[in-house]
Amino acid sequence: MTEKTFLHFPGNFVWGAATAAYQVEGAWNEDGKGPSIWDTFCHQPGNIARDETGDVAIDHYHRWEGDIGIMADLDLRAYRFSISWPRIMPQGTGAVNPAGLDFYDRLVDGLLKHGIEPCATLYHWDLPQALQDRGGWPNRDTVHHFAEYARVVAGRLGDRVTTWVTHNEPFVIALAGYYFGNFAPGVKDLGAALKAVHHLLLSHGYAVEALRDTARCKLQIGITLDFHPIHSASDTEQDRQAATRFDTARNRLFADPVCLGKYPEELDAIYGSLLPRVEPEDLKRIATPIDFLGVNYYTRAVIQHDPEAPFAKARRILPEGNDYSQMWETYPAGIHELLTRLWADYHPAKILITENGDAVPDGLDIDGRVRDVRRIRYLRDHLAQIHRAIVDGVPVGGYFAWSLMDNFEWAYGYGMRFGIVYVDYESLKRTVKDSGRWYAQVIRDNGLDMA
Ligand code: FCB
Repeated sequence: MTEKTFLHFPGNFVWGAATAAYQVEGAWNEDGKGPSIWDTFCHQPGNIARDETGDVAIDHYHRWEGDIGIMADLDLRAYRFSISWPRIMPQGTGAVNPAGLDFYDRLVDGLLKHGIEPCATLYHWDLPQALQDRGGWPNRDTVHHFAEYARVVAGRLGDRVTTWVTHNEPFVIALAGYYFGNFAPGVKDLGAALKAVHHLLLSHGYAVEALRDTARCKLQIGITLDFHPIHSASDTEQDRQAATRFDTARNRLFADPVCLGKYPEELDAIYGSLLPRVEPEDLKRIATPIDFLGVNYYTRAVIQHDPEAPFAKARRILPEGNDYSQMWETYPAGIHELLTRLWADYHPAKILITENGDAVPDGLDIDGRVRDVRRIRYLRDHLAQIHRAIVDGVPVGGYFAWSLMDNFEWAYGYGMRFGIVYVDYESLKRTVKDSGRWYAQVIRDNGLDMA
């Protein structure tokens, strides 16, 4: 490799991979776990491709030790996992299930034994069903139940886990869950979804405080937001305005309150009387200072004005002439655009890329290898753009590939493979893909060879 084509990352850069509880754990009703909204949603026929469920998923709950062994072989420096709230508190509030805490306790110790930093996400979409029965995220009481849960978890893990994400992608939780209805709990009510947005953000603020109060070591805490750079489909005034509306409703709705302590004024024109009530101290609470902003980036959004479109009168189109995968347009330049914009608009203390990756069809070749060349290209091109952002002065402190292993991809079931480790869904056997080996080399070199 020549110096010219080699992109060095900063010395303390954190290289990791991510998963989420419902997508990998399985054991949906074992050892005292209560049902979550995803258990309920998947058990209702018609919601998930082929009616698949996360009942078994990839059985990480039982295979965690072997999975840590794989992480160690890949030289991962960090593992981002999420904690299942109903495994810890089956009813969402009140009684604590010690076996649930024990599971994460063992996982954390196993990671630390191998020098892998545990990064815990408190909420990656699996609300206890008992709380949904009481109204779910549109009910303001859920905010306080979440803070209670944060306290319980930090009470047990807050002596060893230093990196915490409160929520993963509140946009998806609120809008896909309570408005589009394609994700659990499958509600279709815009007013409820907007209440959910506010309560999720508020619960983030309370959880930051709960974690800091309870933990026995110095924490770094953030929230993970999913962003799209937004591009207008044409130069017409209408499309440009639609792109701005989409940006407000998709990106700024979350980043402005968390980073600036206010909602965008433009929301009034988009949602009018549907906007929820905001109590006097709420925004201050939402903007409780955090140590990093978690960023999930997968693709951009190209927007056309459409008065019939259900979301911000804006419709996403798929422009011709670019690379696509099973899920989206491949657009690596978007992560540079996004990072420089977040830095300019919000100046977060630090940014962690908490997810980035791609679903490409792959499988075992005759010799047992998985040659997922397209995934390597995707990861390499995105890392190169992240490197560019770092050179431009954006404080990006780490990167987590989505995902460590193939897993249950929500409404798509097992139809999408995102892993850098292949999982045979019959035998549950794991095989490191070429992308996994490639990523391990990037980690060892602390950078990538673009030659
Ligand atoms: C993100 C989710 C993650 C995974 C990827 C592909 O929106 O956070 O769980 O499904 O998309």
